[in-house]
Amino acid sequence: MKPITLYAVATAMVLGLCFTGSAIAEVDKGAPELTLKSTIDGAKKTKLALFPHAKHQETLTCADCHHSADAEGKQVAYTEGMKIEKCESCHNKAAGMPKKLTTFKEAAHKNCKTCHKENAPEVVKKKCAACHPKKKK
Ligand code: HEC
Ligand code: HEC
Ligand code: HEC
Ligand code: HEC
Repeated sequence: MKPITLYAVATAMVLGLCFTGSAIAEVDKGAPELTLKSTIDGAKKTKLALFPHAKHQETLTCADCHHSADAEGKQVAYTEGMKIEKCESCHNKAAGMPKKLTTFKEAAHKNCKTCHKENAPEVVKKKCAACHPKKKK
């Protein structure tokens, strides 16, 4: 092979590697910052919750928060590439979830606060305002 062809082959291989690499890594990680809001069983006065999604992804695994359910309604553990649905699509009063998991508020409070209690005392100290920003008057 002439050097020029070798070079072309090498470039093609590198490009090929990059493409397959990015194809494999293409899991939808969602928005880096989320503003969460109950829309099904919402309180009379909406309380938004700010959630730094990307920051949590730096240290946690998707399975720490995401899961699914099977046809019988039993929880299914997170697997990569799984369809990620809104918490509220399952955690709503009409879905017949067990106690303390019947709404977005309850499911989120259980998920978020259980972990913070163990791993983020500085966030717990800020109480409700850590997630629910105080309304400006
Ligand atoms: C670690 C984060 C976090 C903390 C701390 C927290 N919440 Fe929440 N809360 C959420 C999330 C997430 C939701 C679900 C999304 C939403 O509706 O805002 C929620 C929902 C709610 C809702 C329903 C809001 C609605 O519009 O339907 C109420 C009420 C609420 N929280 C009250 C509180 C109170 C009171 C405290 C303090 C004792 C508190 N929360 C602390 C994250 C938190
Ligand atoms: C600390 C908890 C937590 C971790 C860790 C986490 N997520 Fe999320 N993610 C959430 C919450 C809460 C929502 C909002 C769900 C809703 O709106 O009901 C969300 C939403 C999403 C969405 C929906 C799109 C969007 O922007 O609203 C996607 C996709 C997603 N996450 C992917 C991932 C992937 C992939 C990982 C792992 C790399 C991950 N998440 C890690 C809590 C988490
Ligand atoms: C496809 C349906 C579905 C979605 C979407 C879903 N859940 Fe769940 N979740 C379940 C089921 C089913 C259980 C098990 C209930 C039981 O104990 O019978 C469960 C259990 C839980 C539990 C208690 C057990 C545990 O694993 O800690 C928490 C907390 C929870 N979900 C939070 C969330 C949060 C937060 C989200 C969104 C990021 C979410 N769920 C999205 C179906 C779902
Ligand atoms: C499995 C553990 C875990 C879960 C679940 C979790 N968090 Fe956190 N979160 C942490 C840790 C650890 C920190 C503090 C370290 C840091 O700032 O990265 C933190 C910090 C935060 C902060 C403060 C960020 C800052 O900039 O100081 C907010 C707000 C927050 N979490 C909201 C939430 C909400 C809302 C949920 C539920 C939807 C949630 N977290 C679920 C582990 C968790």
